Amino acid sequence: MASPAATGAALTIRDLGMVYRRGESAVEALAGLDLDIADREFVAIVGPSGCGKSTLLKLVTGLRPATSGAIMLYGRPVSGPRSDVGIVFQTPVLFPWRTVLDNVLLPADVLKLPRAEYTAKAKALLELVGLGGFENNYPQELSGGMQQRAAIARALVHDAPLLLMDEPFGALDAMTREQMNLELQRIWAASRKTVLFITHSIAEAVFLADRIVVMSARPGRIIDVIANPMPRLRSMDDTLAPEFARMVHHIRGLLGGTQTAAAL
Ligand SMILES: Nc1ncnc2c1ncn2[C@@H]1O[C@H](COP(=O)(O)OP(=O)(O)OP(=O)(O)O)[C@@H](O)[C@H]1O
Ligand SMILES: [Mg+2]
Repeated sequence: MASPAATGAALTIRDLGMVYRRGESAVEALAGLDLDIADREFVAIVGPSGCGKSTLLKLVTGLRPATSGAIMLYGRPVSGPRSDVGIVFQTPVLFPWRTVLDNVLLPADVLKLPRAEYTAKAKALLELVGLGGFENNYPQELSGGMQQRAAIARALVHDAPLLLMDEPFGALDAMTREQMNLELQRIWAASRKTVLFITHSIAEAVFLADRIVVMSARPGRIIDVIANPMPRLRSMDDTLAPEFARMVHHIRGLLGGTQTAAAL
């Protein structure tokens, strides 16, 4: 089998289709989707609400089987949940009976990694996401945005080579969101992870990504892929560049009237 270094591909998706069935009714969420993500690439996905973005992410995690098509991660077919992936779901999934620290340590516990070492890492990550001092609180004592930041720390704790993020910053205020964008870019650049990042914000997608995948309304297909050539590390000032505005404008045009003003 070819190694990731030989193929350069972290994730390969071929002719992916997903139909949700319940009794007589069927919802076609994805149809004929092809996508390749190179090792260490940062790819963002934008598309109208309900077009199948979260579905795509869930299929890549192996939490659900696809109806048709194939997904390969590092040259191997996805056939169930795996440990070399860090996941942030659209709504934070924290265990209410575990403290914030123990929630962040969950992947380390599942993978039976040394607790002392990973406790130090988890605490550093909680500092990073602005949750220092909340280690011993329970999720229900945190706001929605704080819970999502805990979920982000959890996705990073075991240093997985692939990060799958479903609107991770959607519940954060604008200032915190900018900080998290800069921080995620820094982490990605320093650790050379591969990232698949779903967002409703076109500007966030352009700021973060090497390539922006634009999806159609349901059933979700890829209608365009835009490469962002702007050099790294990018700063918030780069969002004012004409080149940046051109990409945002192009993507907004592709999405037509499907985005609300607030999402732009
Ligand atoms: N578990 C499920 N059972 C049945 N239908 C589902 C299920 N999950 C998603 N769907 C349907 O599949 C379609 C795509 O949903 P999905 O959550 O993937 O969209 P999305 O692009 O992530 O939307 P949003 O931007 O609002 O998060 C929708 O029509 C939704 O109703
Ligand atoms: Mg979604």
